Amino acid sequence: MKFFIDTANLDQIKEAQNLGILDGVTTNPSLMAKEGIHGEDRVRQHYVDICEIVDGDVSAEVISTDFEGIVTEGESLAALHEQIVVKVPMIKEGVKAIKYFSDKGIRTNCTLIFSAGQALLAAKAGASYISPFLGRLDDISTDGLNLIEEIRTIYDNYLFDTEILAASIRHPMHIIDCAKIGADIMTGPLSAITALLNHPLTDIGLEKFLADHAKNK
Ligand code: E4P
Repeated sequence: MKFFIDTANLDQIKEAQNLGILDGVTTNPSLMAKEGIHGEDRVRQHYVDICEIVDGDVSAEVISTDFEGIVTEGESLAALHEQIVVKVPMIKEGVKAIKYFSDKGIRTNCTLIFSAGQALLAAKAGASYISPFLGRLDDISTDGLNLIEEIRTIYDNYLFDTEILAASIRHPMHIIDCAKIGADIMTGPLSAITALLNHPLTDIGLEKFLADHAKNK
């Protein structure tokens, strides 16, 4: 399973990269705004800065919602760095643009996936990744993990190459459950990733080992 971090915060990206487990980064317009990154030039430079930290794909989201706009913006984002994957919303114009990008060899991440039907369409159009938003479904009392399972079954039935990028991860159990189901990638906050490190028996065991070692001195 690949691990992506879902943030535009450079310090957190560096921390995950230094941990040695990072395979990529996802961002979205809300995450860029949260870091105070405004204006086309600053946003574009920020994507390049992220690419220079991480060894892996970096999703950069288009703002346009019409086919021509998505294509122009996506081609320009893809030209910024070879690690950029163009993030396109799951709308009719987005699906048309994903097909266009796929034919041109430009990689895409189809975002805002909330149903198996949307995931099927995005794969048919040739998306490299699809991002089902697990946590946002859970937030409205709908089983987000069940959606990941449905998509896994459909993609396996037809051998789609599109990778399932489980997004909107909220906590470490989401990561473990997605790994059990067979999501190809998860993207989540640094807090959910580092929470995987923790177990009280590890802390107690280490404390005892160090205490016993000190007694033998
Ligand atoms: C995915 O690429 C999105 O950036 C993200 O996972 C959304 O997560 P949220 O629901 O926590 O905003």
